[in-house]
Formats: sequence, structure tokens, C-alpha cells
Amino acid sequence: MAATLLAGLALLAGLYVWFYYNFVRGPKCPNERSLRGKTVLLTGGNTGIGKATAMDLARRGARVILACRNKERGETAVYDIRRESGNNEVLFMSLDLANLSSVRSFADAFLRSEPRLDILINNAGVEYGGTSAEGFNLAFQVNHLSHFLLTHLLLDRLKHCAPSRVVVLASRAHRVGKIDFQNIHRPVDGQLKSFQAYCNSKLANILYTRELANRLEGTNITCYAVHPGVVNTELFRHFPIWLRPVMDAFSWVFLRDPVDGAQTSIYCATQEGIERFSGHYFANCKLLEPYPNARDDAVAKKLWEFSERMLGLTE
Ligand SMILES: NC(=O)c1ccc[n+]([C@@H]2O[C@H](COP(=O)([O-])OP(=O)(O)OC[C@H]3O[C@@H](n4cnc5c(N)ncnc54)[C@H](OP(=O)(O)O)[C@@H]3O)[C@@H](O)[C@H]2O)c1
Ligand SMILES: *[C@@H]1O[C@H](CO)[C@@H](O)[C@H](O)[C@H]1NC(C)=O
Ligand SMILES: *[C@@H]1O[C@H](CO)[C@@H](O)[C@H](O)[C@H]1NC(C)=O
Repeated sequence: MAATLLAGLALLAGLYVWFYYNFVRGPKCPNERSLRGKTVLLTGGNTGIGKATAMDLARRGARVILACRNKERGETAVYDIRRESGNNEVLFMSLDLANLSSVRSFADAFLRSEPRLDILINNAGVEYGGTSAEGFNLAFQVNHLSHFLLTHLLLDRLKHCAPSRVVVLASRAHRVGKIDFQNIHRPVDGQLKSFQAYCNSKLANILYTRELANRLEGTNITCYAVHPGVVNTELFRHFPIWLRPVMDAFSWVFLRDPVDGAQTSIYCATQEGIERFSGHYFANCKLLEPYPNARDDAVAKKLWEFSERMLGLTE
């Protein structure tokens, strides 16, 4: 009886280990390329996938700027990354992506203080509802529109430092995303609609990356969209408190930790030889075909023009 029980438990443990290594963990970025002399700018680097990405790039010797909205959380992350990586060229700069004026003043400050930009990682994101300073849907603005503006304002510096890269954190959640130009920018209420808005913004991330690659052809700036896996971070921090114990247990067993979740971002930022895949989508450190809604070049072009109009970038 006890022996059968033990054998059963051992089998379960074995199955879990197999499942974990094959489906949860994901591969490590295979290269150890040094980034000495390079400058990396990463949005939302104070926690989650962004912090783990910044830690790795700092270990490779890059100068790393964390653009975060909260000074205390940002400075704490800077302290941790400096201490663990032994690299003192890690800096906090203030950026609130829910506010377009903040994006503009951040870009001004960055261009005045930083001579280089080799790798831009558009990582910050929100999954909850709300309204930006400009009255737009919060996820649409933070995840897509503000990063569109930020990249636009820094493009000349990236050109100047070419070969350079832009990495955009998207998600497999793009599958259920829709681009409805009548409503995508409008705030919504409720958990379900907010999740839909998140999926829409992640679809926008992939379409944006496709169109950006078209527009950057011949510049030696390349760009990549990333699905990091399903990762145990603070992304679902706003879920009701009574769900927490269940979610924590579930996350611990089934989700990637942030270090594993950062590998595809690190890969797209550093791997040599992927330049010919500029504009494409990556997961598990590999090229992946996104769902058909993310392969529509006509919508990608229209979204670009729509975003320019929202930002007042057209005459
Ligand atoms: N976790 C997943 O399973 C998963 C799956 C697919 C894609 N992703 C994508 O991965 C990226 C990173 O997410 P994560 O999972 O690491 O989530 P996270 O732990 O919640 O980190 C998100 C980061 O974005 C920052 N941020 C939020 N609003 C901001 C604003 N207005 N201005 C500046 N920064 C802001 C946050 O800063 P605060 O700490 O100050 O809020 C935080 O640093 C996101 O783009 C997400 O869509 C995640
Ligand atoms: C938006 O950012 C600007 C510039 O940093 C700042 O002056 C303003 O107070 C911010 N507005 C909000 C609503 O946070
Ligand atoms: C891009 O890089 C290649 C190879 O290094 C170089 O020959 C070419 O002149 C570069 N093009 C531009 C526009 O900088």
C-alpha cells in the first residue's frame, strides 16, 4: 500500500519535472555576447520581465537606463541591479507612459544626457483598465501609443548608433485582439473589457513592429516583437485579493519565473544573425508565426497612420 503510494508520488513528481522543463521553463538565450560600450534603454525595468532583462544586459557590460514611472521603485531596482551585476552604469530616469507630455520630456532629457542608444526595449505594460492623462484607453496608450511616440522621438539616435535594435514586448494574447479604429483608443470599464483592451494593444504591438521594420529598411535598425511566455510577474496585480492564494499557487506551479521570461527579450536584443527577420515575432528564443490577425499588413499600415494622427505627428 505504502509502496504503491510512493511509486505514484514519484511518478507524479517525474511527470511534473518533465512538464516543467518542456513546457514551463523555456530555453535560455544561447549567446554570451558582450554589450560593453552599448547603451540600452528599457521601459518599466523596476520589476517583472523588465528587471530580469535589465539584470542580464547589465551583466553583459551595457549602460542600462531604466525608464520607470515611480522613482522609489525605479531607484530600488537600480540598486539591486548594480549590486548583483557589479555594473555601476545602471540609471533610473522618470517616464510615465500614461502621460504623453512625460514621454516628450523624457525623450528630451534622454537625448540631452545620453550620447548613445543601441538597444531600445519597449517593455512596460499594463493589463488593467483606466484612462491616460490624455483621456485614452490606458492599455492602448501605455502599451502601444506612448511607445510609438517614444520610439519616434529616439529614432535619429538609434540611426546614429546603427546597427541598433528595437525590441517590443507583445504577447500570445494578440490572438483574441482586434483593431477597431472607432473604439481602440476609448477607455472601457470592467475586468473583461480591460482584458480585451490588453489583447488589442498586444496585437497593435506586433502590427506596429511589422510596419516599423518596413519603414526602417536600409537603415540597419532592426526590430522584433516578443512573446515572453506566461510569466509570474506583477502583471495581474489588480486581481481581487481573494483570488490571490489560488493565483499564487497556480503561478508557482505553472508559470515561468521572470528570469526565464526574459530570455526571448535578451535574445532579440543580442543575437547576431537575426537581422533578416526584422519585423517578425519571436517566442522561446525562436522565430514564430503569429496568428493571422497579426499578419495583416494593410491594418498595420492603417494603425501606423491612426497612431500618428492620435499623436498629432502629421500635418
Ligand atoms: N507576464 C506575462 O505573462 C506576460 C505575457 C505576455 C506579455 N507580457 C508583457 O511583458 C511586459 C512586461 O510585463 P510584466 O509581466 O513584467 O509585468 P509587470 O511585472 O507588471 O511589469 C510591468 C512594468 O511596466 C511598468 N509600467 C506600467 N505602467 C507604466 C507607466 N504608465 N509608465 C511607465 N511604466 C509603467 C510597471 O511599473 P510599476 O511597477 O511602477 O507599475 C512595471 O515596471 C508587458 O508589456 C506585458 O504585456 C507579459
Ligand atoms: C504629465 O507630465 C508632465 C510633464 O512631465 C507633467 O508636468 C504633468 O503634471 C503630468 N500630468 C499628469 C496628469 O500626471
Ligand atoms: C549597414 O551596415 C552595412 C554592413 O555593416 C554597411 O555596409 C551599410 O553601409 C550600412 N548602411 C547604413 C545605411 O548605415
